[in-house]
Amino acid sequence: MVSLIAQDLERVWEEARSLAESQLEEVGQLVRQFVLQPVTPVATCQFENAVEECLRFDGPIPLTQRIPHEDVVFGEKTIPKDTSVLVLLAAANRDPDHFPDPDRFDITRDPNPHIAFGGGAHLCLGTHLARMESRIAIGHLVERFPKLQLESETVEWGASLFRVPGALPIALA
Ligand code: HEM
Repeated sequence: MVSLIAQDLERVWEEARSLAESQLEEVGQLVRQFVLQPVTPVATCQFENAVEECLRFDGPIPLTQRIPHEDVVFGEKTIPKDTSVLVLLAAANRDPDHFPDPDRFDITRDPNPHIAFGGGAHLCLGTHLARMESRIAIGHLVERFPKLQLESETVEWGASLFRVPGALPIALA
């Protein structure tokens, strides 16, 4: 009994640790995008827009998956039930029908109806936490070190399933 509880605790701890690590890595990807772009937000409220634009422009999760339980008509196509469908969130976030000049990184973009957190019944449960953490992390970093510069043009992508850098060498001043 005691060893079962210990195993459960260990599993919960492992899950919590990997969630915290993945969130850190995700913020890393947003920081990378932020440093790559030659923009300096002048007001705190602009960090909110900046985080949204990072998420749209090159978010940490480029795709998700759905398996419809019945035939679904999508545009001019019918997706048969039980088909595995990969949904390219990153492509949708650059759709010119929804985002004027979609390949331009623009922190003043308004509205910015990106779907970096997915949508529908399975919309990311951590949306609010991720937004809050990203605004605080990036906001404080940029305010404290306004002259951040990437030390390497090459990205070493992490081993994670997410699109996140494994390391992000940055010069602070
Ligand atoms: C920038 C950070 C994050 C991004 C870009 C992100 C993005 C996503 C995406 C695209 C999905 C799939 C949605 C779908 O299939 O429609 C998802 C699901 C999910 N996310 Fe996040 N996520 C982030 C952070 C977090 C955090 C911090 C947590 C928890 C603390 C979290 C918890 C979840 C959970 C539980 C699901 C599954 C929801 C379900 O299947 O009903 N995410 N996330």
